[in-house]
Amino acid sequence: MNLPNINEAKIRTNNKVEYLEAKNIKSTKFINKYYYIRTYGCQMNVHDSEEIKGILENLGFRETNDLEQAHIVVLNTCAIRENAHDKVFGFLGRLKHLKREKPDLMICIGGCMPQEESVANTLKEKYPFVNIVFGTHNINDLGEMILDERAQQQIDVYSIEGNVYEHMDYVRDSKITAWVNIMYGCDKFCTYCIVPFTRGKQRSRKKEDILREILDLKEQGYLEVTLLGQNVNAYGKDLDCNYDFASLLEDVAKTGIPRVRFVTSHPWDFTNDMIEVIAKYENVMPYIHLPLQSGSTKILKLMGRRYTKEEYIDLYTKIKNKVPNVSITTDIIVGFPNETNEDFLETIDVVNKCKFDGAYTFIYSKREGTPAAKIQDTISLEEKEQRLYKLNELINAYSLEHNKEYIGKIEEVLVLGVSEKDNNKVYGYTKTMKLVNILGSKSDIGKIISVKITDAKSFSLDGEKQ
Ligand code: SAH
Ligand code: SF4
Ligand code: F3S
Repeated sequence: MNLPNINEAKIRTNNKVEYLEAKNIKSTKFINKYYYIRTYGCQMNVHDSEEIKGILENLGFRETNDLEQAHIVVLNTCAIRENAHDKVFGFLGRLKHLKREKPDLMICIGGCMPQEESVANTLKEKYPFVNIVFGTHNINDLGEMILDERAQQQIDVYSIEGNVYEHMDYVRDSKITAWVNIMYGCDKFCTYCIVPFTRGKQRSRKKEDILREILDLKEQGYLEVTLLGQNVNAYGKDLDCNYDFASLLEDVAKTGIPRVRFVTSHPWDFTNDMIEVIAKYENVMPYIHLPLQSGSTKILKLMGRRYTKEEYIDLYTKIKNKVPNVSITTDIIVGFPNETNEDFLETIDVVNKCKFDGAYTFIYSKREGTPAAKIQDTISLEEKEQRLYKLNELINAYSLEHNKEYIGKIEEVLVLGVSEKDNNKVYGYTKTMKLVNILGSKSDIGKIISVKITDAKSFSLDGEKQ
């Protein structure tokens, strides 16, 4: 096989998005060898890891959860906050020791961190025992890099943009519910966020490719798909056609797959057409993740979010009024530079008005290279922690309030597996994405069953099979 000429350290740029077939290289070279993969970050990375597993298994490797047994270790990294970096560098320390005992162990680092030039340089200078460094745009090259097996470190990362690969051999984590990328990258450039730099500009997949993948999943017996993108509502804006997310969602609903979900929705691109499609189709789940980030219009402006506090509340109310029993969750950042206590109280005010079903909350983390990193951060860590604590108390109280409303109701639950805490129970999700632990049997896994809700906690429900 002709291997590409991979330089030791290569930062490549790509000026034009191309739609290409995945390489799907097959080999028996690593038969009877094991891979260990650790995934950090968002659903995008979880799904990328399914692609990485496909590449590794095509080379002959099998998965192990035992690090000691592994011949190759892959870390699929996240760069969203400083602590994500810390976790990876911490784990690398452990791998360094392991490699002393097992010099043939191959260590690969991919995902969002190496897309930052400073990280790629640190890996080159301080972590020479890492064999392969790849980015988010060239996962498809990983097979060739592994087969290359050269002794020196290989760094190969594309900056800015990437291609769209079709027909990848995924090894999916579930046989019931599947992730389906509808787009890659993000064009929003919220001022605090590293994602547009690590994932490149927005590239939508073609409608035919997405629908083909979903029909194929349906044929394989999948009961649920989650359409995946950093900002799904902006789907199609980069394609030269009159086809938007509402149209795609409608076409996906028409495939007849029992459950359709989507993440994440930016409030800015949320159209009335989208709301209508969600309300109209039984198989489009009434669950929306709608990140607020801040309740203060002043901070939203500094964040580059392009909506005001009032516009967010109006959109939220419109969705609530039009989609019956919809559940809405959000993301909120506290301690953005210049966030005063009054600004924080505006966030609390929105939470009190919207009473979210749940929220992921974060302390602002400065990311070098983003516009917000230039704004001086004047708030003490103690103050940020206090704000986070107050916010979480409130969010959890509303979650519990919402969950209690389910007690006594009969819900349709898609059962995914055996409950982690109690082996006699199975777990699954309601249409509104509430986690339910059910007194049921293993034979219910992979089915949508009727469940009577018997109890509610902040983060889950209990139920009995009907
Ligand atoms: N594309 C999605 C979210 C991607 S990142 C969206 O726009 O909604 C997930 C969440 O991480 C964001 O919604 C935000 O709340 C948080 N986040 C992103 N950058 C951050 C930073 N620098 N510090 C703290 N939280 C951050
Ligand atoms: Fe980041 Fe904003 Fe894009 Fe979400 S929409 S990924 S927060 S830049
Ligand atoms: Fe992290 Fe990259 Fe996702 S930075 S949150 S893994 S897009």
